[in-house]
Amino acid sequence: MPATLPSAARERPAAPGGVPAHIAIIMDGNGRWAGARGLPRIAGHRAGAQAVRRTIEAAISHRVGWLTLYAFSSENWRRPAGEVTDLTGLLRHYLKSEVAELARNGVRLRVIGERGRFAEDIQALLREAERLTAGNLRLNLTVALSYGARDEIVAAARRAAEAAQQGRLDPASLDEAAFAGLLATTGMPDPDLIIRTSGERRLSNFLLWQAAYAEFVFMDVLWPDFSPEHFGQALDEYARRERRFGARPA
Ligand code: IPE
Ligand code: IPE
Ligand code: MG
Repeated sequence: MPATLPSAARERPAAPGGVPAHIAIIMDGNGRWAGARGLPRIAGHRAGAQAVRRTIEAAISHRVGWLTLYAFSSENWRRPAGEVTDLTGLLRHYLKSEVAELARNGVRLRVIGERGRFAEDIQALLREAERLTAGNLRLNLTVALSYGARDEIVAAARRAAEAAQQGRLDPASLDEAAFAGLLATTGMPDPDLIIRTSGERRLSNFLLWQAAYAEFVFMDVLWPDFSPEHFGQALDEYARRERRFGARPA
């Protein structure tokens, strides 16, 4: 409950210079991690959940204000039914066992994606987790679940079209800021740094709109092996980048 939180949980993070305000991570490679050990894929997903815990702690200790984790894409529903059941079961377990700890640590949890596709009990756990952590400011943790950026953009376009049809929106007034306000990420800063593990170098339908000027760091580590040291390496790499946003080089 917010009233029982330590005062630190309510402190607004002030990231030191050069630290990205918002880091988004495509957590990839769980299946390959398990396969390399002769284990079933679910073992990789379980080990991946441990890496999530470590990464949240690392983000807090580096005073990153916003962390967004790609946990399940809208395309991941196409995986074999057994793996989907294992993944949703793990999500249920994680929500039951971790949310109190997130709340204690001052983490505010948000979920983006088509949450209506999950079982009703999982939707209830997600609502409860968001409610329980709503007053926290130390780390804004967004988990992308059944998320697809094209879906998100189409839904925003549909909302705009409906508003225009009903006379609530003048199409001429729809600018980038207004459109961003119709996306699932409304109110969040764009990611400064996007990390993808496992060696793949693609976005896989993640934050297509929001990534317009993000820096990308691709790492060869498989997600279950991702450690605070890897997190630090990505921050170091980010600090070496020169961001221009289309302006003339300095
Ligand atoms: C990432 O690991 C987790 C999800 C996409 C749910 P993968 O399951 O994609 O693992 P690889 O890419 O097959 O190794
Ligand atoms: C992207 O990984 C989605 C998540 C990490 C949740 P995938 O493993 O699903 O992506 P592809 O299929 O390699 O592009
Ligand atoms: Mg993968």
